Amino acid sequence: MKLTIPDYIQAIDPYVPGKPLEALEREYGISDSVKLASNENPLGPCPKALAAIQKSLADLHRYPDGAGHLLTRKIADANGVSPANVVIGNGSDDIIALLVRALVRPGDRVIVPRPSFLMYDITAAAAGAVVDAVPLTALTMDLDAMAGQVTADTRLVFVCNPNNPTGTVVTQRDFDAFMARLPDDVVVVVDEAYIEFARNPDCLKTGQPSDLDRPLVTLRTFSKAYGLAGLRVGYGIMPAALAEVLNRVRQPFNVNAMAQAAAAAALDDRAFLHQTVGLVHRGLDDLYAALDGLGLTYFKTEANFFLIDVGQPADTVFENMLRQGVIVRSMRAYGFPTYIRINVGLEEENRRFLRALETVLSQIDDP
Ligand SMILES: Cc1ncc(COP(=O)(O)O)c(C=O)c1O
Repeated sequence: MKLTIPDYIQAIDPYVPGKPLEALEREYGISDSVKLASNENPLGPCPKALAAIQKSLADLHRYPDGAGHLLTRKIADANGVSPANVVIGNGSDDIIALLVRALVRPGDRVIVPRPSFLMYDITAAAAGAVVDAVPLTALTMDLDAMAGQVTADTRLVFVCNPNNPTGTVVTQRDFDAFMARLPDDVVVVVDEAYIEFARNPDCLKTGQPSDLDRPLVTLRTFSKAYGLAGLRVGYGIMPAALAEVLNRVRQPFNVNAMAQAAAAAALDDRAFLHQTVGLVHRGLDDLYAALDGLGLTYFKTEANFFLIDVGQPADTVFENMLRQGVIVRSMRAYGFPTYIRINVGLEEENRRFLRALETVLSQIDDP
């Protein structure tokens, strides 16, 4: 077989997802492990969503509603915008892909913060774009530097708020000043995958009706606060003219019927959202206090995950934590060789994590 692969595809490093529990347990011969590596919802799926899925099963011989009327209307109502401003996707990853497909030609430029969510880089690179990565300053997106990178060829700028993996946010004020510096033909994408968890009152929150007269796209997901990562549903809020273009280039049934029903029901489950956010905030405060007790450096977050400087090679700590049955993320590949990232789990999972970390760090200190 002789495949002709474009250079810009050959150059892509694949996205490495967090390890699934079963794979880890098989590999390490352990059971009852805890996964705190993919920023998932420790409470499980939203119960109203599960009930809606059950109801939708009898119709699985039918194609889904290609326009996603019910879900799109609910998202629009929840955000005070029109359904014409909403595009639904197979996860927010899908909306990232649609934006790149619709707006970026080979050779165009895309600005991303670094480190941040790697799918911005991968998706842009797969379209043959030049990725301009702008380093964070003090773990926070440097909007000034990002605006300074814009050239006549820049088509898209990604802002991740709160940023994965650092958990930091930008303020409305800084964001407005940044937008004012950009030309009208550059589309800014604000990824709000974790916005439900932000506690900082100054945190930027887009997707408001007043955002619709600027080239701005807000990304949200049902994967995190709503506990539906396995179903794959996300959405974008954007000016209607841009939504119309994205709808032209998406697959006609990009969000499956169960996912549409579940996400629509999840939006009505305020109690579950409240419970999730409360659990995350309490868990963060408990973890911060315990890490203070251990004398470890960590970075306060506006998301459901945060970074810890373990003061040792993070890959080794990651491996040794795995042997204790606790899955975290090493941040070496993100440029932080001694940092790990964990997401908040259930109370007992957080305690397991702390016990495992203490054990692992004492083994390294005292081999
Ligand atoms: C910042 C950020 N954006 C988007 C996503 C993708 O979310 P989805 O599951 O909706 O594709 C993630 C997933 O981890 C993320 O961290």
